Amino acid sequence: MYKYDAIDRQLITERVEQFRDQVSRWQSGELTSDEFRPLRLQNGLYVQRHAPMLRIAVPYGMMNTAQLRKLAFVARTYDKGYGHFSTRHNMQFNWPKIEDCPDILGHLADVEMHAIQTSGNCLRNITTDQFAGVAADEVIDPRPLAEILRQWTTFHPEFAFLPRKFKIAISGTKEDRAVTWFHDIGLHLQQQDGETGFRVIVGGGLGRTPIRGQIVRPFLPWQHILTYCEAILRVYNRFGRRDNAYKARIKILVQALGVDAFTQLVETEWAQIKDGPATLTQAEYDRIAAHFTAPAYDRQVDASAFANQIENDKAFARWVERNTHPHQVAGYVAVTLSLKQHGAAPGDISADQMDLVADLADQYSFGELRVSHEQNVILADVRKSDLHAVWQAAKGAGLATPNIGLLTAIICCPGGDFCDLANAKSIPIANAIQARFDNLDYLFDIGEIDLNISGCMNACGHHHVGHIGVLGVDKNEAEFYQVTLGGRQGYDARLGKVIGPSFAAEEMPDVVEKIISVYLENRHPDERFLDTFDRIGIDPFKNRVYEGRAHGKAKTAQKEAA
Ligand code: HEM
Ligand code: SF4
Repeated sequence: MYKYDAIDRQLITERVEQFRDQVSRWQSGELTSDEFRPLRLQNGLYVQRHAPMLRIAVPYGMMNTAQLRKLAFVARTYDKGYGHFSTRHNMQFNWPKIEDCPDILGHLADVEMHAIQTSGNCLRNITTDQFAGVAADEVIDPRPLAEILRQWTTFHPEFAFLPRKFKIAISGTKEDRAVTWFHDIGLHLQQQDGETGFRVIVGGGLGRTPIRGQIVRPFLPWQHILTYCEAILRVYNRFGRRDNAYKARIKILVQALGVDAFTQLVETEWAQIKDGPATLTQAEYDRIAAHFTAPAYDRQVDASAFANQIENDKAFARWVERNTHPHQVAGYVAVTLSLKQHGAAPGDISADQMDLVADLADQYSFGELRVSHEQNVILADVRKSDLHAVWQAAKGAGLATPNIGLLTAIICCPGGDFCDLANAKSIPIANAIQARFDNLDYLFDIGEIDLNISGCMNACGHHHVGHIGVLGVDKNEAEFYQVTLGGRQGYDARLGKVIGPSFAAEEMPDVVEKIISVYLENRHPDERFLDTFDRIGIDPFKNRVYEGRAHGKAKTAQKEAA
């Protein structure tokens, strides 16, 4: 994992002191709230429904145990004893006091963590695949290049005041697990004729106007990644709209110009800086890559006891089936600790759980862990012979719900319980669906399905790319939910289709159950929900959920008749 050098350390400690000064000037009235706003935002501090919210970056999802223990300490000392993992590798604290934030950031700086550029109209945290460096289907480890991009984006003076926020995701595997098609820039690492490079995608995004990104360069040799990103950002910084926040993202610019004209502008800009000082050298790559060498794997894992445990313990076998992921090294797997316990807020983790995860990572996974955009925690390097012990410890802490990839592992934003922008609550909807599908046999029989919930059209819960997506909407000041079907992430990522008029909160578990029943009645053997959906289309689902329910013109006619 990357270790800070003297420059990194100086950068974040000076930043803490600068922010401490800004907070005290705001407290004394020297800075107005309007003046303070951009300053606090660039340090991850929002002011939300009940309290301020502090967002801390976990660059490309990697953390060590000292960092996680420090987050546990912050949760206990300055918050209500828990934190929330977001869908972009950040940890959010929902209850800090503004005046405590400089101290919190000071504690975090001690373990090489910060909240810089986690909000505001700047380059945000770089995200990637949670299995980076260990995934069996990996072509190229994205972490060194993600770290190089992190360093380049941090405090980049030219891009501190973009028209709007800017998100970059990078993926180096056959299966895209980083939602790269729906980022401002999505980067796919690949090999071509023995050379390593990127497919560069621009203009994707979710939010109010969900758009799948478009390819601006099918192959860019890796040495040029910084200059090419710089060219893209310059075009955006210059031509992106600043008059309307809803139309300010790069996706709108790409749509307005058309991808060909946009690409032309980028290529022209790039021609000015190509081969300039920001061109990467092998020596620089090697310097950073040296931080990401493989740990001292045990090359002779004895997995015989593991085979017996699987055979004799159905609950353990189920957990292994759902919550472990293939590893590059024989005898090892990556373990996903589920933060999707039924009844809890998806992505929430208590301080005690953080400490336990840190202990497990120290004992079984070389002292490191990952967080995923699905809001879970990953121990990336666990020996099969240790899995039973890890499972038992995780189970005792409520971290072993065997539901990864299943219906109840819901991605969910904080919604109306915490967020000022929400139209509707999302956590209670997730909990009601989890309660309805609490039977594990049934859940396993339904199989792989992603259900994603957002409390408003900003789409923090990725509802557009859920196989089933749920969006909170406001109808005459009442909370309703719109359902989409068939969305997906991965290399064939696409947006879900709206099924029809929205539903009341109490209807939602029934609606999901009806959707599932249509799938179960129609599926061919071994067919996943998405495959059945693609084969039979949306109509059978639509007919079932609105059966006996007047809507649209029929409802108007009924009202008029009454
Ligand atoms: C509670 C404070 C939050 C606020 C005020 C907030 C605000 C927003 C806004 C305004 C957008 C739309 C921006 C645009 O399209 O220009 C957005 C998008 C997004 N947010 Fe949040 N959000 C919050 C929390 C979260 C949380 C907790 C998560 C993860 C669980 C999250 C992840 C995302 C993602 C993934 C997107 C969409 C990606 C994109 O197209 O940029 N946000 N957020
Ligand atoms: S989707 Fe809306 S309600 Fe949910 S966190 Fe984002 S802004 Fe808030």
